[in-house]
Amino acid sequence: MEYIFSDKVSGLKPSMIREILKHGSNPDVIPLSAGNPAVESFPVSEMAQIAAEIFEKDYSKALQYGITEGHTPLREITAERLKSKFNIGKDFDSTIIVSGGQQGIDLTCKVLCNEGDTVICENPSFIGSLNAFRSYNVKLCGVELESDGINLEKLEEALKTNKNIKFIYTIPTFHNPSGITTSLEKRKGIYELARKYNVFILEDNPYGELRYTGEDIPTIKSMDEDGRVIYCGSYSKILSSGIRLGFVCAPSEIVSKIVVCKQANDVHTNQFFQMIAAEFLTRYSLDEHVEKIRSIYRRKLGLMLDGAEKHFPKEVSFTRPEGGLFVWCTAPEGTDIMKLASLCIERKLAIVPGVAFLTDPDIPCNSFRINFSTPSDEQIVRGMEILGNTLKDILA
Ligand SMILES: Cc1ncc(COP(=O)(O)O)c(C=O)c1O
Repeated sequence: MEYIFSDKVSGLKPSMIREILKHGSNPDVIPLSAGNPAVESFPVSEMAQIAAEIFEKDYSKALQYGITEGHTPLREITAERLKSKFNIGKDFDSTIIVSGGQQGIDLTCKVLCNEGDTVICENPSFIGSLNAFRSYNVKLCGVELESDGINLEKLEEALKTNKNIKFIYTIPTFHNPSGITTSLEKRKGIYELARKYNVFILEDNPYGELRYTGEDIPTIKSMDEDGRVIYCGSYSKILSSGIRLGFVCAPSEIVSKIVVCKQANDVHTNQFFQMIAAEFLTRYSLDEHVEKIRSIYRRKLGLMLDGAEKHFPKEVSFTRPEGGLFVWCTAPEGTDIMKLASLCIERKLAIVPGVAFLTDPDIPCNSFRINFSTPSDEQIVRGMEILGNTLKDILA
């Protein structure tokens, strides 16, 4: 049988990177490659108690179909938190619960883009979003990311020279993979350029609450006066990733289209976990819970940066993120990062070559991403030593 796939997916191929990433799940390998939350950050006993109560008292709702927009209490709590904490949500907006931020990103592209349209992204950017966009056959235009966010001159150039641009995709806070946070000036600049060239902004913010040092910076969505920003958030990194709960706050007309697409996609987000989350957020303070998570990650990030300081050759630079889950490391130009990653695997350590995050994988990339939330403290300490030694071997 010859299998002929749609144009949308025939270009999507398992990559060499995936082969490297597979090793990240081998228990003998130190996983600096993943992006999973630390297991100790999950509120297990609280969720177990709530789950048991729901099964006893409210199983008819928990096991039944729900509404596409989301379990009403969770939707209301989410919208209220976005408003009170982040000044997100104007009269023209509404909020929908989705099956992880990933689904919000995918459905946004689905409702806004035709095949052949352009999406502008930071380069590098989150691989899950790039693959979602690719699956709709849109053209990806990557714009250089600097230490304080996207290069605004190059962004304007991209807006001028590309056709049928639908939106700018940005992760302005604790960017994945780089850890970079976009400055307030650049956030305003992105919004002004989107206005000038009349395109939407998809602001992806799953890490915004994971700040370990420094001051919060207003989201781009909080500046939205004319309904052009679609905001995607997630409970994955502040509650649990396996429950698959995310949310989109966007102009109501866009959310209505997302609802129709979600109906065709998965009908609604898992009802039982939406109920557990709503009850958790009612009984407990999410702020207090997030503070506990922050203290875990603050420590882990410190260990990772100390390790980089101690073991990396001096010609390898690395970001010092104020939050999020990732550190982005850059070796001298011409360094073979695939070779570095393979050698690391031989030494039982997994990292992600930076090329995985580029809009154009044919461009050479001498960077790689490491993560500090998944490995244990001991694994971080040991892993950074192995990484430093392997870098020295590669650069010798
Ligand atoms: C930048 C970014 N956006 C979105 C997501 C999707 O997260 P989830 O679908 O778990 O909410 C991730 C997950 O790692 C991410 O790093």
